Amino acid sequence: MWILRHLLVFLMHLLLGSFAERFSNGYYYQDIVNGNDNYGEMYYHRIRLYVESPQTLVSAVQGSNATLPCYYRYEPKLSPTRRARVKWFWLPINGDGQERDVMVAIGAHYRSYGDFKGRVRLRRGAPGDASLVINMLQSDDTGRYRCEIIDGLEDESITVQLNFRGVVFPYYSHRGRYLMNFHEAEEACKNQDSHLATFEQLFAAWEEGLDWCNAGWLADGTAQYPVSVPREACGGSDLAPGVRSFGFRDKSLDQFDAFCFTSSIRGEVYFLQHPIKLNFTEAAEACHNDGGHIAKVGQLYAAWRFVGLDQCDAGWLADGSVRYPIIKPRMNCGPSEPGVRSFGFPPKHLKHGVYCYKVHW
Ligand SMILES: *[C@@H]1O[C@H](CO)[C@@H](O)[C@H](O)[C@H]1NC(C)=O
Ligand SMILES: *[C@@H]1O[C@H](CO)[C@@H](O)[C@H](O)[C@H]1NC(C)=O
Repeated sequence: MWILRHLLVFLMHLLLGSFAERFSNGYYYQDIVNGNDNYGEMYYHRIRLYVESPQTLVSAVQGSNATLPCYYRYEPKLSPTRRARVKWFWLPINGDGQERDVMVAIGAHYRSYGDFKGRVRLRRGAPGDASLVINMLQSDDTGRYRCEIIDGLEDESITVQLNFRGVVFPYYSHRGRYLMNFHEAEEACKNQDSHLATFEQLFAAWEEGLDWCNAGWLADGTAQYPVSVPREACGGSDLAPGVRSFGFRDKSLDQFDAFCFTSSIRGEVYFLQHPIKLNFTEAAEACHNDGGHIAKVGQLYAAWRFVGLDQCDAGWLADGSVRYPIIKPRMNCGPSEPGVRSFGFPPKHLKHGVYCYKVHW
């Protein structure tokens, strides 16, 4: 009986399919309501399933929660209690690589997989809301997420991309300019609570006005630098503004600065209120006594960008550099653009303030 019914559905699908209108983002399937199991009383409906997302790109900060929107509905309208199966998959952003399961849900039952276990759920804000909520975003959560709704014999899906909102900062070694090979640059960014930036991240930073005249390593093994105001000292004044590239370089032999990317709102960065100025050793100790650590460069940049930290006091950081973050430029607080001002790496016996970092969970 069951097989017969499905065969019939299939045949009717073929028949109707040939003269049915075509839609690009929906499909037809057949739904049978069979009152008392009697073919004579079988009703036949053409129902269309739509899966949609109002937002195909979601940007979030590492450590925060993100919601990737996905909604489904039927036409003509069906009872909202109808149970569809919802599956979410993850794919790498550049498209090559294996699709991974994130979660599958039917009604109130769901299962999550791998790294996503315990961190994901469906929002279910309204009937047909299959949006995915991811808690505590981790560095490898970026990618494309496919929302698949399965009802009956067929399925329909949409894809939402998750990016990290972050900040790119140029970094050079305490030994001086152009002194890091690729591996040292990678390590240097990691030590500052960040990663080597991708080209897309550097490009976005250039669009926001980043101008830096020293070439830095990027994650793909190229060395590049962003110029918004073309000038002689910086590749020539007759070239258009843009991101200039030295191309792929030898990862062991060639030496540049680094472009690091940080996206994190875990913890708090603050200028330590302390009666006297401190040398580097005392500064690290003072943060420790305050229940924290001396802040890293990436943490200061993230606090400047995401929390709006604005402090016109130079302070030691963990790498031995001295910097301060400015949101609202003013007299005696550096250039007329907002930014993190740097005094480079002064001798460690000199006395300054200090920026500390505390994690609250
Ligand atoms: C993320 O969600 C969890 C659980 O719903 C909540 O406790 C936490 O405060 C949220 N975090 C942020 C940064 O909003
Ligand atoms: C900082 O001052 C302390 C004395 O308060 C001294 O012991 C320490 O060596 C100094 N550190 C540096 C790097 O000069």
